[in-house]
Amino acid sequence: MNVVELIRKKRNGLELASAELRYIIEGYVKGTVPDYQVSSFLMATYFRGMTKDETREFTRLMLHSGDVLDLQSIPGVKVDKHSTGGVGDKISLPLAPIVAACGVPVPMISGRGLGHTGGTLDKLESIPGFRTDLSIEEYKAVIADLGLVMIGQTKEIAPADKKMYALRDVTATVECIPLIAGSIMSKKLAEGIDALVLDVKTGRGAFMQTYERSLELAKALVEIGTGFGKRTVGFITNMDQPLGYAIGNWVETEESIACLHDAGPADVMELTYVLGGMMVVLGGKASTLDEGMARCRAAVQNGSAFEKFVALVQRQGGDVSYIHHPERYPVSRHRETITAPQDGFVTSIDSLELGLSVIGLGGGRTAVDDIIDPKAGILLKKKAGDAVRAGEVIAECRTDNSAALETLTKRIAAAYSFGTEAPKTEPLVLSIVDADGVRPFPLNR
Ligand code: URA
Repeated sequence: MNVVELIRKKRNGLELASAELRYIIEGYVKGTVPDYQVSSFLMATYFRGMTKDETREFTRLMLHSGDVLDLQSIPGVKVDKHSTGGVGDKISLPLAPIVAACGVPVPMISGRGLGHTGGTLDKLESIPGFRTDLSIEEYKAVIADLGLVMIGQTKEIAPADKKMYALRDVTATVECIPLIAGSIMSKKLAEGIDALVLDVKTGRGAFMQTYERSLELAKALVEIGTGFGKRTVGFITNMDQPLGYAIGNWVETEESIACLHDAGPADVMELTYVLGGMMVVLGGKASTLDEGMARCRAAVQNGSAFEKFVALVQRQGGDVSYIHHPERYPVSRHRETITAPQDGFVTSIDSLELGLSVIGLGGGRTAVDDIIDPKAGILLKKKAGDAVRAGEVIAECRTDNSAALETLTKRIAAAYSFGTEAPKTEPLVLSIVDADGVRPFPLNR
């Protein structure tokens, strides 16, 4: 086969056959199809899309580019959660230990920051020493011992996605339903789960900015998961403004620790409990979402979720002193505050702009091998709906990169909009999608 012909076929909007997709994916993993041709294939796919069958086949081939793990020897229904990516989206960090503390094993394989969104792996790696590159044997041992493990893709697990994810990040080919579906579902199906909860973001800071596109993505993900025999439930959730107050790798980890002490921001706690509650239901430890959410709340309040997180960090080589004393973490050389230009209300915060600003501060990548500064980030002091006075601090940015500071503080300030009246509050969780269809949320739980 000739890769140029395959790229041309996709560029012209035609469906690629399984063998043709395999040729590209296998060649990419082996190194016989170079980055520049895969970039071109990705861009053609971005514009031309894939049919349902092609997306399913693409996912299957990405999945089988590596090992498909078998965790059947570990008792219990193994459940994971994955987000399509947001700004300030640290939910996995508090959620995984909470659900594990409820007795549901959580084997989690996550990604790095992608585009303007942060990644769970980069957040975990902000904890000095924390290893996300466990071998498969170590992965199985940790989940067997703790009922929880959090790693990145190894060369064995969905290696095609590992490479392609990094390439998409730097070739503006992220916002594409078949590519997102193949990426997420290949990793998730490879990790040995029985069921999956998906957080499909919608709004300004999401890859899918309209509800309709997010719904299309949610349906594609649920259909693939269900087709592979895994119970899959998706929630469409609002990503117009960042989740919580912290954006950046360490500051989000610190906010997650606060959540585990029952002191997190209301939106982060709410979403953690909704997604966690559903995981507990799928894991067979609760029969309704309300009951699952109550179990999650109890695991936070009785300290067992925090203990689980400490055990995980210790087991994966991280320095637990920072989990017990986050205030000891090093702080950036520059901390610049941003103030409100007028009296009134914050009417909106452009989370896409803030996500991109964090990359500029050093907290994300613009090239595959960029090194992240874990300390870099933004701390919001005011969010949409809050009243402000002219001159009051609305955000603080942290960076070691003095060259970027002036431009980025202006960019962060411009991401805020103000008005004289409080804006209408939007619900955080909009709808639920499963094999039975789409329902508005909250439902008659
Ligand atoms: N998360 C992933 O793992 N992959 C994507 O493409 C987007 C979000």
